Amino acid sequence: MNDAIPPPDIPDLPDLEPGWVWLAGAGPGDPGLLTVLALHGLRRADVVVHDALVDERVLGLVRPGTVLEFAGKRGGRPSAKQRDISRRLIELARAGRRVLRLKGGDPFVFGRGGEEALALARAGVSFRVVPGITAAVGGLAYAGLPLTHRDANSAVTLVTGHASSGEVPDGLDWRAIANGAPVVVLYMAIKHLARIADLLRDAGRADDTPVAVISEAATPRQRMLRATLATVADAVVTEAMTPPALVAIGPIVELEGALGWLGVRPAAAGDGLDQRRAG
Ligand SMILES: C[S@@+](CC[C@H](N)C(=O)[O-])C[C@H]1O[C@@H](n2cnc3c(N)ncnc32)[C@H](O)[C@@H]1O
Repeated sequence: MNDAIPPPDIPDLPDLEPGWVWLAGAGPGDPGLLTVLALHGLRRADVVVHDALVDERVLGLVRPGTVLEFAGKRGGRPSAKQRDISRRLIELARAGRRVLRLKGGDPFVFGRGGEEALALARAGVSFRVVPGITAAVGGLAYAGLPLTHRDANSAVTLVTGHASSGEVPDGLDWRAIANGAPVVVLYMAIKHLARIADLLRDAGRADDTPVAVISEAATPRQRMLRATLATVADAVVTEAMTPPALVAIGPIVELEGALGWLGVRPAAAGDGLDQRRAG
């Protein structure tokens, strides 16, 4: 039996009301990873203000007539200033629009959602935060890597490899990061990967520590390469791995051989996902 089953009515979903902003996460790519609440917001919004990381298939779920406003950096277009984005959200809300501010992953994980929420609060604009699946959780799962595994790591450290200055974050204690949790997951680290790998090795991480780089995770373009801390910076260049990408460092990477489920499951009709490997 494979009769189409209508989606259930979820009780007590709040409404996206005129004059409100919902600050929502879209997950890492696959529209199936949207939360019910984010999808509800997408279907109710008058205006969706979105980042470059939000998958086109997610944006395709809006009602006809919904205005899509791009606020981000893509294809050489200049990046909208954070202050301008917050100002625009306030302006739309004050004009009585139902506003969905949609960000890749989770809005509060390396996504400047906190800054936008603060601006809305200060302006007296009503808002709700709709969490999303952050890339480290969803992206690693789609690459066959559990973020934690009882036999591998009881802790994980999430780090951004890119400060607002554009440089490697210098306020971080890299020695503590190297020696704190067995697993470190880097966001936004492709540009500075050679420097970060050196910082971790100088702080005591072994050269042969396993590393995985996953680009465009949970999209049809997902690619992964495996290397070591000593070889990963060169491998990323050789294999032309480009952002958005995650870098997972530590023993969980060894589990991918057993748990890389994406390429081996029977493909669901039309999902188009294919675990392509680089290298
Ligand atoms: C500005 S941060 C936004 C993070 C987002 N708020 C989240 O919770 O995932 C952008 C970085 O997230 C990571 N990222 C987001 N989506 C990704 C994806 N589908 N595949 C790989 N990395 C991704 C990359 O490291 C990218 O450079």
